[in-house]
Amino acid sequence: MPATAKRNPIIVALDVATADQAIKLAEQVAPAVGAFKIGSELFTSAGPEIVRRIRATGAAVFLDLKFHDIPNTVAKSVAAATRLDVQMLTIHTSGGAEMMKAAETAAQKTARQMAIEAPLVLGVTVLTSMDGSQMSELGLGSDVGKQVERLASLASQSGLRGLVCSPLEITALRQLLPASMQLVTPGIRASTDAAGDQKRTLSAPEAILAGANWLVVGRPIYASENPRAAAERIFQSLLA
Ligand code: C5P
Repeated sequence: MPATAKRNPIIVALDVATADQAIKLAEQVAPAVGAFKIGSELFTSAGPEIVRRIRATGAAVFLDLKFHDIPNTVAKSVAAATRLDVQMLTIHTSGGAEMMKAAETAAQKTARQMAIEAPLVLGVTVLTSMDGSQMSELGLGSDVGKQVERLASLASQSGLRGLVCSPLEITALRQLLPASMQLVTPGIRASTDAAGDQKRTLSAPEAILAGANWLVVGRPIYASENPRAAAERIFQSLLA
């Protein structure tokens, strides 16, 4: 998945319960999107076989399992994900610098052994479900923005080449980080979409303009009456 400006930046979240539903959705929208995100619900119910099946359609896969463990375990998990030939995967930056370095090294080393391109190891900073008071409960201070920036800088220093961030964090992170850092942003909603449980949203063109490289879109596509048309509308909105 080359990180060029011209490719389709839409990643559809396959937030469905079964492999059959996921394959059906993927086949429907594949021509209109850049990649598919497989999260912990689908992976736990359908297993690694769902990754292989989606990859077999030729589509790129973002494996969003948010690894968070000791460096050795995360490195082995990242190596296993790389062997599944995913193009992006997530780890928690709060696992620390050593863990992040181990993850990036495992991705590079395994990809080299397989003669494939290394997946983009994306760091998750502060979950968007967390607010200042929940952070305080964890002893982390109450400034969410500051903590996001701190973890993002640490991720960059640790060699990660990408981060997941909320739409409203893009501008600050773009100022802070090297331009090559890939930013992947969920919370994408057009003004006509239902926000659902997303509280901080931007439209797709707004997020790209702010500096996002990839947009994760779930319900506005998969819950639409015509998922393919919904994906095409979002892509068209980026070309306007
Ligand atoms: O349906 P919706 O467009 O809100 O889906 C967004 C996807 O991005 C979901 O898979 C959700 O788990 C994921 N996500 C998110 N916010 C984050 C991280 C991931 O919405 N901070």
